[in-house]
Amino acid sequence: MTIVFLVTLDRHLHTPMYFFLGNLSMMDMSCSTVALHKPLITFISRDRSVLFRSCFAQMYSFLAITCDELLILTAMSYDRYVAICNPLRYIEVMSSKVCSLLACLSWILGFMNIIPCLLEISGFTCYTSLEVNHFFCDIMPIMKLTCNDTTSLEQYIFLEGVLFATLTPFILTFISYIFIIRTILRIRSSSGKRKAFYTCSSHLTVVTLLYGTLSYQYFRPISSVSLESNKLYSLFNTAAVPILNPLIYSLKNKDVIAAMKRRCRCFKTRAVEAKIKK
Ligand SMILES: *[C@@H]1O[C@H](CO)[C@@H](O)[C@H](O)[C@H]1NC(C)=O
Repeated sequence: MTIVFLVTLDRHLHTPMYFFLGNLSMMDMSCSTVALHKPLITFISRDRSVLFRSCFAQMYSFLAITCDELLILTAMSYDRYVAICNPLRYIEVMSSKVCSLLACLSWILGFMNIIPCLLEISGFTCYTSLEVNHFFCDIMPIMKLTCNDTTSLEQYIFLEGVLFATLTPFILTFISYIFIIRTILRIRSSSGKRKAFYTCSSHLTVVTLLYGTLSYQYFRPISSVSLESNKLYSLFNTAAVPILNPLIYSLKNKDVIAAMKRRCRCFKTRAVEAKIKK
């Protein structure tokens, strides 16, 4: 929330990189909210039941937002590619129109991409048990419960989840980074090298973190997935990663820290002014 707030209010952060970071933070926020609201409610009310349709809504939103995140990270890698490999045309290429288009596309494609999978699951009529062995309705635990044939669902997951939503973004990000590294290696001065690397190090960290946890969690044959260890990874993915992303971007980042200080000062002055008026 702090990042979204700063990116929206601070004029110095009105650049493509922070525009995308703002969107990534919104996705992170939605992702944790979608996945973790039920465990929190259970914690207070001890009511562990969940409506079938809520379970579906949760599964849909969670998968769609995860997909959104991978797409926005790809847009961010394109932004870094233009910034480092084509700096003279950066402002022209990453115009606000292009940025908005990329951000909107990321949101929309993510939500559209999941629809066929969900239609398939909604056709399931037979469940061996109605007890979901997880702290939210994720696709794997639900798949383990059904006694309907999951072959076509697994094919959809492979096509949309693996090929379209993960492998394509991954390859695009990877290609951007090959170009970026090539350009960085060509820079003569070591301070120039460090500076160029510095501007994409945060993005690289976030990308590695997300792809690392996702590939461990989802890219194994369903029979070998142990739901117990899956829970731990899900918790990491839904609670830790969304907190780490903005931290990685802001702690090391002089611009964000400067913006934070400016905001604090601004609030202090306003508080003092309010006191004086009183
Ligand atoms: C995220 O993207 C949308 C759509 O392009 C844009 O209107 C919005 O301002 C962005 N959010 C942030 C926090 O930058």
